[in-house]
Amino acid sequence: MTFSPIEKEAIIGVADKVAGHEDAIGAEALERLFCCFPQTKTYFSHLDLSHGSKDLKRHGGNVMRAIGTAAHHLGDIDHALSTLSDLHAQKLRVDPGNFKMLTHCILVTVAIHFCEEFTPVAHAALDKFLCKVSSVLVSKYR
Ligand code: HEM
Repeated sequence: MTFSPIEKEAIIGVADKVAGHEDAIGAEALERLFCCFPQTKTYFSHLDLSHGSKDLKRHGGNVMRAIGTAAHHLGDIDHALSTLSDLHAQKLRVDPGNFKMLTHCILVTVAIHFCEEFTPVAHAALDKFLCKVSSVLVSKYR
């Protein structure tokens, strides 16, 4: 999967807006995930998932920073997320169907907070990008 110059600009533009706000954006995306798709909470029974918790901010921040890394390595996302891919496939064994739910919640959160940047072109590019991130993270399942 390759990204056109217009798609790259849109993805990096939104990633740069998120930079510095990863914990808040990530925590909100996770809160939406657990509210809209409560079955996903089973993977996080060891964390405090209450509104505004430190765990939500820490984990949400980690997720959004990984996505930021991928946005700055659009030509080689597989390599950029290789360690994370091992973790999700071999240790966490998250059901691949859950990725679509999380990326949907990330998209909604970004759209709400950065509505000016979230043009139809950016929407389509981010959707494509998040599909690629998900496919990399589930690529090592056996
Ligand atoms: C851990 C990213 C999707 C469940 C992590 C970590 C990152 C991350 C950066 C921390 C790794 C570390 O500590 O070394 C992502 C990204 C995703 C994604 C970018 C897709 C866009 C999912 C999904 C689930 C999930 C869909 C389950 C619904 C977990 C769990 C952990 C984890 C349970 C361990 C959390 C902990 O114990 O602190 N993920 N993840 N991930 N992820 Fe994901």
